[in-house]
Amino acid sequence: MKIGLGGKDAIHALLALQQKAPEAARWTQGDYERLMEDPGGKILVAELETTEPPKLIGFAALHRIIDEVEVRNMAVDPDHRQQGVGRALLLAAREHMLKAGAKRVFLEVRASNKPAQSLYYSIGFAMHSIRKNYYREPDEDALVLALELYPPTVVSSYP
Ligand SMILES: CC(C)(COP(=O)(O)OP(=O)(O)OC[C@H]1O[C@@H](n2cnc3c(N)ncnc32)[C@H](O)[C@@H]1OP(=O)(O)O)[C@@H](O)C(=O)NCCC(=O)NCCS
Repeated sequence: MKIGLGGKDAIHALLALQQKAPEAARWTQGDYERLMEDPGGKILVAELETTEPPKLIGFAALHRIIDEVEVRNMAVDPDHRQQGVGRALLLAAREHMLKAGAKRVFLEVRASNKPAQSLYYSIGFAMHSIRKNYYREPDEDALVLALELYPPTVVSSYP
Protein backbone atom coordinates (compact mmCIF):
# COMPACT_ATOMS: atom_id res chain seq x y z
CA MET A 1 0.00 0.00 0.00
CA LYS A 2 1.20 3.48 -0.87
CA ILE A 3 0.03 6.82 0.58
CA GLY A 4 0.17 9.79 -1.76
CA LEU A 5 -1.56 12.98 -2.81
CA GLY A 6 -4.86 12.64 -4.67
CA GLY A 7 -5.43 14.87 -7.71
CA LYS A 8 -8.48 15.53 -9.84
CA ASP A 9 -7.99 12.24 -11.70
CA ALA A 10 -8.79 10.49 -8.39
CA ILE A 11 -12.21 12.12 -7.86
CA HIS A 12 -14.19 9.39 -9.63
CA ALA A 13 -12.64 6.73 -7.36
CA LEU A 14 -13.11 8.96 -4.29
CA LEU A 15 -16.84 9.29 -5.01
CA ALA A 16 -17.15 5.53 -5.59
CA LEU A 17 -15.40 4.78 -2.30
CA GLN A 18 -17.53 7.34 -0.46
CA GLN A 19 -20.65 5.53 -1.77
CA LYS A 20 -19.46 2.41 0.05
CA ALA A 21 -18.96 4.31 3.32
CA PRO A 22 -22.26 5.91 4.40
CA GLU A 23 -20.64 7.20 7.62
CA ALA A 24 -18.35 9.46 5.56
CA ALA A 25 -19.46 13.02 4.76
CA ARG A 26 -21.57 13.05 1.58
CA TRP A 27 -19.48 15.17 -0.74
CA THR A 28 -20.10 16.04 -4.36
CA GLN A 29 -17.52 16.14 -7.13
CA GLY A 30 -17.49 19.93 -6.65
CA ASP A 31 -16.65 19.58 -2.94
CA TYR A 32 -13.56 17.51 -3.80
CA GLU A 33 -12.57 19.90 -6.60
CA ARG A 34 -12.90 22.95 -4.35
CA LEU A 35 -10.75 21.38 -1.64
CA MET A 36 -8.07 20.44 -4.21
CA GLU A 37 -8.05 24.00 -5.57
CA ASP A 38 -7.75 25.53 -2.09
CA PRO A 39 -4.12 26.30 -1.15
CA GLY A 40 -4.77 24.79 2.32
CA GLY A 41 -6.53 21.70 0.96
CA LYS A 42 -4.98 18.25 0.56
CA ILE A 43 -6.41 14.83 -0.13
CA LEU A 44 -4.24 11.94 0.94
CA VAL A 45 -5.04 8.68 -0.80
CA ALA A 46 -4.09 5.11 0.03
CA GLU A 47 -3.59 2.92 -3.02
CA LEU A 48 -3.01 -0.78 -3.52
CA GLU A 49 -0.12 -1.14 -5.92
CA THR A 50 -0.75 -4.80 -6.61
CA THR A 51 -3.41 -3.89 -9.19
CA GLU A 52 -2.99 -1.99 -12.46
CA PRO A 53 -4.07 0.76 -12.30
CA PRO A 54 -3.56 1.01 -8.51
CA LYS A 55 -6.83 0.66 -6.56
CA LEU A 56 -7.84 3.54 -4.27
CA ILE A 57 -8.68 1.97 -0.90
CA GLY A 58 -8.82 4.97 1.43
CA PHE A 59 -8.57 8.73 1.71
CA ALA A 60 -8.34 11.58 4.19
CA ALA A 61 -9.44 15.09 3.15
CA LEU A 62 -7.56 17.80 5.04
CA HIS A 63 -7.90 21.55 5.22
CA ARG A 64 -5.28 23.76 6.84
CA ILE A 65 -5.80 27.38 7.84
CA ILE A 66 -2.48 28.79 9.09
CA ASP A 67 -1.58 26.43 11.97
CA GLU A 68 -4.87 24.57 12.38
CA VAL A 69 -5.95 21.58 10.32
CA GLU A 70 -9.37 20.04 9.99
CA VAL A 71 -9.90 16.45 8.86
CA ARG A 72 -12.94 17.18 6.73
CA ASN A 73 -13.69 13.70 5.44
CA MET A 74 -12.24 10.22 5.61
CA ALA A 75 -13.06 6.66 4.62
CA VAL A 76 -11.47 3.29 3.98
CA ASP A 77 -12.93 0.73 1.56
CA PRO A 78 -14.98 -1.81 3.58
CA ASP A 79 -12.98 -4.65 1.94
CA HIS A 80 -9.74 -3.22 3.36
CA ARG A 81 -10.72 -2.13 6.87
CA GLN A 82 -8.97 -3.04 10.10
CA GLN A 83 -5.70 -3.56 8.24
CA GLY A 84 -4.06 -0.29 9.30
CA VAL A 85 -5.06 1.82 6.27
CA GLY A 86 -6.88 4.51 8.31
CA ARG A 87 -4.01 4.75 10.77
CA ALA A 88 -1.45 5.01 7.93
CA LEU A 89 -3.46 7.84 6.34
CA LEU A 90 -3.64 9.81 9.59
CA LEU A 91 0.04 9.29 10.40
CA ALA A 92 0.94 10.52 6.91
CA ALA A 93 -1.43 13.47 7.40
CA ARG A 94 0.30 14.34 10.65
CA GLU A 95 3.72 14.37 8.92
CA HIS A 96 2.46 16.49 6.01
CA MET A 97 0.79 18.97 8.31
CA LEU A 98 3.74 19.26 10.73
CA LYS A 99 5.95 20.11 7.73
CA ALA A 100 3.40 22.72 6.64
CA GLY A 101 3.61 24.39 10.06
CA ALA A 102 0.39 23.09 11.63
CA LYS A 103 0.11 23.00 15.40
CA ARG A 104 -3.18 21.19 15.96
CA VAL A 105 -5.71 19.07 14.12
CA PHE A 106 -9.47 19.07 14.72
CA LEU A 107 -12.23 16.81 13.48
CA GLU A 108 -15.88 16.08 14.08
CA VAL A 109 -17.27 12.59 14.42
CA ARG A 110 -20.75 11.23 15.07
CA ALA A 111 -21.22 10.23 18.70
CA SER A 112 -22.28 6.74 17.52
CA ASN A 113 -19.29 6.19 15.18
CA LYS A 114 -17.20 4.06 17.54
CA PRO A 115 -14.79 2.56 14.92
CA ALA A 116 -13.74 6.05 13.79
CA GLN A 117 -13.44 7.27 17.39
CA SER A 118 -11.23 4.27 18.26
CA LEU A 119 -8.98 5.08 15.32
CA TYR A 120 -8.72 8.76 16.31
CA TYR A 121 -8.01 8.01 19.97
CA SER A 122 -5.36 5.45 18.95
CA ILE A 123 -3.53 8.24 17.05
CA GLY A 124 -3.64 10.57 20.08
CA PHE A 125 -6.76 12.67 19.46
CA ALA A 126 -8.54 13.74 22.65
CA MET A 127 -12.04 15.01 23.35
CA HIS A 128 -12.30 18.77 22.82
CA SER A 129 -16.04 19.55 22.96
CA ILE A 130 -19.51 18.36 21.95
CA ARG A 131 -21.68 20.01 19.30
CA LYS A 132 -25.25 19.23 20.24
CA ASN A 133 -27.51 18.06 17.41
CA TYR A 134 -24.85 18.85 14.83
CA TYR A 135 -25.72 16.04 12.39
CA ARG A 136 -28.91 15.32 10.48
CA GLU A 137 -30.33 12.07 9.07
CA PRO A 138 -30.20 10.88 11.76
CA ASP A 139 -30.02 13.78 14.22
CA GLU A 140 -26.98 13.30 16.40
CA ASP A 141 -24.34 15.11 18.44
CA ALA A 142 -20.83 15.61 17.06
CA LEU A 143 -17.78 14.97 19.19
CA VAL A 144 -15.05 17.48 18.38
CA LEU A 145 -11.66 15.82 18.84
CA ALA A 146 -8.29 17.56 18.81
CA LEU A 147 -4.72 16.41 18.29
CA GLU A 148 -1.90 18.68 19.44
CA LEU A 149 1.06 18.53 17.04
CA TYR A 150 3.16 21.18 18.68
CA PRO A 151 5.31 21.41 20.69
CA PRO A 152 6.68 18.03 19.58
CA THR A 153 7.55 15.63 22.37
CA VAL A 154 11.19 16.28 23.28
CA VAL A 155 13.16 13.30 24.50
CA SER A 156 16.03 14.67 26.50
CA SER A 157 19.13 12.74 27.48
CA TYR A 158 19.87 15.26 30.26
CA PRO A 159 20.60 14.75 33.13
C1 LIG B 1 -13.06 4.70 10.59
C2 LIG B 1 -12.28 4.03 9.45
C3 LIG B 1 -11.69 5.12 8.54
C4 LIG B 1 -11.12 3.19 10.06
O1 LIG B 1 -10.30 2.74 9.02
P1 LIG B 1 -9.44 1.38 9.14
O2 LIG B 1 -8.48 1.34 8.03
O3 LIG B 1 -10.38 0.22 9.26
O4 LIG B 1 -8.69 1.62 10.53
P2 LIG B 1 -7.32 0.92 10.99
O5 LIG B 1 -7.27 -0.49 10.50
O6 LIG B 1 -6.17 1.78 10.63
O7 LIG B 1 -7.54 0.87 12.56
C5 LIG B 1 -6.73 1.62 13.46
C6 LIG B 1 -7.35 1.54 14.84
O8 LIG B 1 -8.68 2.04 14.82
C7 LIG B 1 -9.52 1.27 15.67
N1 LIG B 1 -10.58 0.65 14.87
C8 LIG B 1 -10.68 0.65 13.52
N2 LIG B 1 -11.82 0.01 13.15
C9 LIG B 1 -12.41 -0.40 14.28
C10 LIG B 1 -13.61 -1.11 14.56
N3 LIG B 1 -14.44 -1.52 13.57
N4 LIG B 1 -13.95 -1.33 15.84
C11 LIG B 1 -13.15 -0.92 16.85
N5 LIG B 1 -11.98 -0.25 16.65
C12 LIG B 1 -11.62 0.02 15.38
C13 LIG B 1 -8.62 0.26 16.36
O9 LIG B 1 -8.13 0.88 17.54
C14 LIG B 1 -7.51 0.12 15.36
O10 LIG B 1 -6.29 -0.25 15.95
P3 LIG B 1 -5.89 -1.83 16.05
O11 LIG B 1 -6.04 -2.38 14.68
O12 LIG B 1 -4.48 -1.78 16.52
O13 LIG B 1 -6.86 -2.42 17.02
C15 LIG B 1 -13.20 3.07 8.65
O14 LIG B 1 -13.87 2.21 9.56
C16 LIG B 1 -14.23 3.77 7.79
O15 LIG B 1 -13.97 4.11 6.63
N6 LIG B 1 -15.44 4.00 8.34
C17 LIG B 1 -16.53 4.62 7.58
C18 LIG B 1 -16.28 6.09 7.30
C19 LIG B 1 -16.09 6.88 8.57
O16 LIG B 1 -16.59 6.55 9.64
N7 LIG B 1 -15.33 7.98 8.42
C20 LIG B 1 -15.02 8.85 9.53
C21 LIG B 1 -16.06 9.91 9.63
S1 LIG B 1 -15.67 11.06 10.94
